[in-house]
Amino acid sequence: MGTDNSTERVIQHLRGLVAGQAGGARLPSVRALMRTLRAGPVTIEAALRRLDHEGLIEARPGQGTFVAAPRAVAKNPNAADLDWQTLALGPARAAAGPLAGLALMPTPGALALNAGYLPDALQASELLSAAASRALRRPGLWGRCAPEGLDALRGWFAAASGSFLAHEITICPGTQSALAAAFRALAAPGDPVLVESPTYVGALAAARAAGLRLVPVPIDADGLRPDLLAEAFRASGARLVYCQPTYANPTGAVLAEERRAVLLEIARRAQAFVIEDDWARDFPLDGTAAPAPLAARDQGGHVIYVRSLTKCAAPGFRIGAIAARGAALARLRATRLIDDFFVPGLLQETAVQLLTAPSWPRHLRTLRAALRARRDALADAVRAHLGAAALPRLPSGGLHLWVRLPEGISDLELCERARRADILLSPGRHWFPAEPPGAYLRLSFASLAPEAAAGAIARLASLLTGEGERNSEPGFPPPAASHPQERRRRA
Ligand SMILES: Cc1ncc(COP(=O)(O)O)c(C=O)c1O
Repeated sequence: MGTDNSTERVIQHLRGLVAGQAGGARLPSVRALMRTLRAGPVTIEAALRRLDHEGLIEARPGQGTFVAAPRAVAKNPNAADLDWQTLALGPARAAAGPLAGLALMPTPGALALNAGYLPDALQASELLSAAASRALRRPGLWGRCAPEGLDALRGWFAAASGSFLAHEITICPGTQSALAAAFRALAAPGDPVLVESPTYVGALAAARAAGLRLVPVPIDADGLRPDLLAEAFRASGARLVYCQPTYANPTGAVLAEERRAVLLEIARRAQAFVIEDDWARDFPLDGTAAPAPLAARDQGGHVIYVRSLTKCAAPGFRIGAIAARGAALARLRATRLIDDFFVPGLLQETAVQLLTAPSWPRHLRTLRAALRARRDALADAVRAHLGAAALPRLPSGGLHLWVRLPEGISDLELCERARRADILLSPGRHWFPAEPPGAYLRLSFASLAPEAAAGAIARLASLLTGEGERNSEPGFPPPAASHPQERRRRA
């Protein structure tokens, strides 16, 4: 197929760009190229496709377009031969997988609907600066800290958990590290771990990196299904389950009140630990308080409780906590000590100053109102442009919408097309520990001002139509009985 003049002009420009850069260098986004070259998206995409076919560039879903590594590497005479590393390292063990895509810094101007954190506009930046300057005046700030953390901060997390005592809390640099430590401390490589399906990508990555075998347990609109959980414990012999009972990421599901005691009883009978990831405690959005943590009703040391401040304050404020009792606490603490001794005193002291200031509850109130407006605007836009079936249920808290895609649409391909249009999305399949039962997207409503929601989703819908035309006619599948949102819709 021939190309017209403008495509040829873009191709020539891109060839120049590729020639001047090493393999692996990132190329400008489609939007940036459109601006520089004054060309439309179709022309830019056609040019990119051509160079992709020629093997000059490489599109990496969710990451961007890169200069392809040269096939026959022209050797730099001074470069070291690193091939020995392949033999020394052997088969790959810990791979970040899709977590690496989520962790990528968005390019300027991109619409980061894949973000799992507050955008700049909603972060507690001023409060953090004020808290940090108060913290800086504390004596001994740069000395050693106890590995388990500052007493005052542990006391705050203990009170907030509604059950643990300060000596049962260990401060961590965020909760990703807490989860990674928990998987290593509480199970051995090869052991099974039960996880909700779908669930947080970072927990899946951490469990895999610890060598654990992921056993998916389906959820419905009311969270983990107790019947299937009990069966999964029985069939797998697992002694560990990871769950998010409150505003689960990605679905927003809340474990129903009547299931909470049942879940703990199942764990007690299986003599198992429950890692409760309470990441979204600060984000109830419908005026009713979040349900009490599972930990608050655990009498037997089964619940390992994890809570983060990175979500409600700012992503760079890497403070979280993990709580446990008995031998599990001792193992977790040993693992944390071996990992990185302790969390810097400046961050911990800043956390104490932040959380005890009268401005903190005000920040949370303002934040919830802003998030509620963003959730509602994005949900309205999704329903208007993608149809009501895309979002049968509004999450009552958290930061995300879990959007079902029409049948015949590939989440990966749609995310790639969107990325080329500078819209960053998280493909649903990454959130499932095994085969996804359908195609989904996780959309962060935090990152989009309410007035921008309709435009963004209209753009997404136009990409979806293009995508659907190539695969098959878009149209929602009949509801799958096991899918939580669909079950609720039919009820
Ligand atoms: C459910 C859940 N748990 C834990 C984390 C880890 O967060 P952090 O390490 O920033 O505390 C995240 C981050 O996205 C999350 O979504």
